[in-house]
Amino acid sequence: MEKNKTVLSGMRPTGPLHLGHLAGALRNWIKFQDEYQCYYSIVTWHALSSEYQNSRAIKKNTFEVAADWLSIGLDPQKSTLFIQSEVKEHAELHLLLSMIIPLPWLQRVPTFKEMQKELKEKEINTYGFLGYPVLQTADILMYKANVVPVGEDQAYHLELAREITRRFNRLFGKVFPEPQMMLTEVPKLAGTDGRKMSKSFNNSINLKDSPEEIQDKISTMMTDTKRKRRKDPGNPDDCPVFTLHKAFVSKTKREEIIRGCRNAGIGCVDCKQVIIDTLIKELSSFRKKRKIYEKNPDLVWEILEQGNLKAREKARATMEEVRNKIGF
Ligand code: TRP
Ligand code: SF4
Repeated sequence: MEKNKTVLSGMRPTGPLHLGHLAGALRNWIKFQDEYQCYYSIVTWHALSSEYQNSRAIKKNTFEVAADWLSIGLDPQKSTLFIQSEVKEHAELHLLLSMIIPLPWLQRVPTFKEMQKELKEKEINTYGFLGYPVLQTADILMYKANVVPVGEDQAYHLELAREITRRFNRLFGKVFPEPQMMLTEVPKLAGTDGRKMSKSFNNSINLKDSPEEIQDKISTMMTDTKRKRRKDPGNPDDCPVFTLHKAFVSKTKREEIIRGCRNAGIGCVDCKQVIIDTLIKELSSFRKKRKIYEKNPDLVWEILEQGNLKAREKARATMEEVRNKIGF
């Protein structure tokens, strides 16, 4: 396969990854490895922008993300897996881009205001947080990425990245391809409490959960609240558990469940067991690999260091070109 296009994406190291990351991003990322030249970054500086009061957790979380990535199937032979803050060129490009971005472009970013409201206790009314999308743009441009797979929540950041790219190219000459946003379909997974699965709600089913944890978490999950007794019919569309079926269970099995739920042919216990068994099976080779990495953390750090080296090489070339165009 001719890999003449480059993909870049990133994840913030805020903790172990959960089923939402798998269904919404990682599955696609794994597939892209055979179709594109892929750069996947653990974006430590982005994590720092909201977690600076707990900065020491970022390194541990970087390990968690890397171990999850490697165990689920991101392959350092195929992709460049690297730590953003180990490639200092990102900071330089961020700085240079910051010179050409009119302030209102950043002030009108919806996530800037939303996140401030949501994360009030974190005091993220900072210069660094305002520049979050600028840093993201630097990540993308550094590798001249053509395609950036992201979920809907990142759409505005990508629009902005494209705008910044055009402005840079217009001012200094064409250096960067305009990155295309690839909106990946992100299934809306419910967490154990029925709300959206998210680390901040503490309701996630993590990739590294043991079979027992998966069993426990799903067994106690809410179901369609109108289905109170076994003989009451239910509606999968109103059931948090069924959001997991949608993302992980085969279509034929799912259709069986829809019928069984609607006519009270199956009970919730059996229905839950289907998804529990599916997940435990789907994650079995993941768990084995992850144990190996947990026992040999140096192996993980070594793989990342190799990725950092590869990323740096490309970053160095890009920055040389950038400095030239600017006239430095
Ligand atoms: N902001 C992205 C998120 O929260 C993470 C990210 C950082 C990213 N740099 C990126 C995504 C570059 C795509 C491309 O999900
Ligand atoms: Fe939900 Fe399954 Fe129970 Fe229907 S049978 S309410 S889909 S858990």
